[in-house]
Amino acid sequence: MARRRQLYEGKAKILFEGPEPGTLVQYFKDDATAFNAQKKGTITGKGVLNNRISEFLMLKLAEINVPTHFIRRLNMREQLIKEVEIIPIEVVVRNIAAGSLAQRLGIPEGTRLPRSIVEYYYKNDHLGDPMVAEEHITAFGWASPHDMDDIIHLALRINDFLTGLFLGVGITLVDFKLEFGRLYENDEMRIVLADEISPDNCRLWDSKTNEKMDKDRFRRDLGKIEEAYQEVARRLGILPEAGSRDLKGPETMQ
Ligand code: TMP
Repeated sequence: MARRRQLYEGKAKILFEGPEPGTLVQYFKDDATAFNAQKKGTITGKGVLNNRISEFLMLKLAEINVPTHFIRRLNMREQLIKEVEIIPIEVVVRNIAAGSLAQRLGIPEGTRLPRSIVEYYYKNDHLGDPMVAEEHITAFGWASPHDMDDIIHLALRINDFLTGLFLGVGITLVDFKLEFGRLYENDEMRIVLADEISPDNCRLWDSKTNEKMDKDRFRRDLGKIEEAYQEVARRLGILPEAGSRDLKGPETMQ
């Protein structure tokens, strides 16, 4: 088969043209960045694990009728997705104070928030993804008030569901980042969950020890990064049968 045409390369993923119109292939790299790419590194096997973890979580969300861009996993590092128009907003949902919220408001990391908080960041690397309010989003037309109603509703449902799912495997969902897109089908537009859900864009703490099991291990140089991602996959019951041996195998890029 001919090499696929590359449409976009991001920090952790590459998008290729899909086999049929309206589809794309999402390829998961091992590259990791933090602080708007000021810190760069490689987490061996991350792409394979995030492909699996995101597949698992998106399929679980589809079961509770959360619409997503996910169609199916193609191989170790690639998944087939529906082509959507990405809304340029990062939607962050927080249950426990950590990261930028803890810093900005001087709340000790680990403090349970009085209720889940939804924040928005404008996706713009030059500006360093500044935090914005719903007012900015609707005033500048990045999303309509109707889109925002759908996004907030979906983000809170996803939070409720994933909080329970992770708790069941001994993991506390501290916070996470979502991206949404517009899917055009039969003259209709629907807001769907896009991008990925993985330890790259969630804070996941061991429920008993509060040990970090996510990209903060890379951001903060805590070591044992690969092990943490593997442990998340293992607890979710999706570590490739052969274990870590699977992670370094030949890639089936076509
Ligand atoms: P923050 O505390 O640094 O604002 O991050 C909140 C959540 O969003 C955390 O789970 C990590 C995730 N996140 C991303 O996925 N991409 C980003 O660029 C940033 C800054 C955070």
